[in-house]
Amino acid sequence: MYGGGYVFCEPDVHGQPDDPERLAEFEARIDRGEKIEPQDWMPYEYRRQLIRLIEQHAHSEIMGALPEGAWITRAPGFKRKLALIAKVQDEVGHAQLLYSAAETLGKSRADMVNDLLSGKSKYSNVFNYPAKTWADVTVIGFLIDAAAIVNQVANSKGSYGPYCRALERICYEESFHLKQGYDAFVALATGTKRQREMLQDAINRWYRPIIHFFGPPDNESVHSKQLMRWKVKMASNDEMRNQFLDAYVPKVLELGLTFPDPELRKDPQTGRWHYGDPDWAEFYRVINGDGPCNAERLSARRLAEENGRWIRQAIMNPQQKFTIPFA
Ligand code: COA
Repeated sequence: MYGGGYVFCEPDVHGQPDDPERLAEFEARIDRGEKIEPQDWMPYEYRRQLIRLIEQHAHSEIMGALPEGAWITRAPGFKRKLALIAKVQDEVGHAQLLYSAAETLGKSRADMVNDLLSGKSKYSNVFNYPAKTWADVTVIGFLIDAAAIVNQVANSKGSYGPYCRALERICYEESFHLKQGYDAFVALATGTKRQREMLQDAINRWYRPIIHFFGPPDNESVHSKQLMRWKVKMASNDEMRNQFLDAYVPKVLELGLTFPDPELRKDPQTGRWHYGDPDWAEFYRVINGDGPCNAERLSARRLAEENGRWIRQAIMNPQQKFTIPFA
């Protein structure tokens, strides 16, 4: 069951309290800023939470490749096509890194994929919206990648070694994505009237999902308190959202574009951003399977799983006879 060639400590049994001495030593290590490695003892809940979070993150990378992948053939010009192909390939690679990191905690990749396809595991809300125009792809490439970087840079300083190391590598690549996203964004913002209108429409569509991206407000976040205590999360949802708004709202406004939220403003005294009601009911609907594209995204993944079965079987059982579909 356990993957990655690691030797694992025996996990504590769910439902039984952790050995208080071991727990105290574990928490002292975290307080000292040490990394926890797969073979180290860890509380059952730490392991469970990490699997949940890293697995959701891996699924998000895979699902994130879908709206952008659909635009490869329609990207305007050779340069944009090349950049998009490379980016989509990177995102799928990020999922591989993250699935490997989650496997070190004892859940197999097959189980993770099954939980995604059955709808048991979540993935990021933002990938359940359509990319209607090239401007949507541009907003994803700039603002969603920027949001992901804010979150991933914070998480990369956390306590679980394999996740942090995967994130460090992911962040390098994401910073290239951000540069190409910004370049495409500025090209539309400084283009024709029609291009600017397209971009503004796309910003209007994506503003709310981006606000939702960092998770519910801190007072509604179920897991933050424990995850921050164990340094799995290094910033709260609202802190990350504020950091993102601080860095990227000015970049959009300086291009003469706007956000569809008359209440969006920074309080100069507290340094906190204030925004209008982002409709958290919509967020919960989307993450629980009822967004505009949830069904479409999951069926695309199910099809990919089905179409790729023969090659996985061939690699895992080279002696076995198999039929190549479409041959
Ligand atoms: N999309 C989908 N689900 C989300 C979400 C989002 N943007 N934000 C929060 N949720 C879900 C959580 O997974 C949790 O559901 P669960 O208990 O069924 O797993 C629920 O909403 C409550 O949220 P919260 O208690 O705040 O969750 P959290 O402490 O795990 O924080 C993140 C949410 C996204 C900040 C955190 O999971 C994280 O940093 N994840 C890793 C990075 C990542 O996945 N990035 C996305 C793609 S690049």
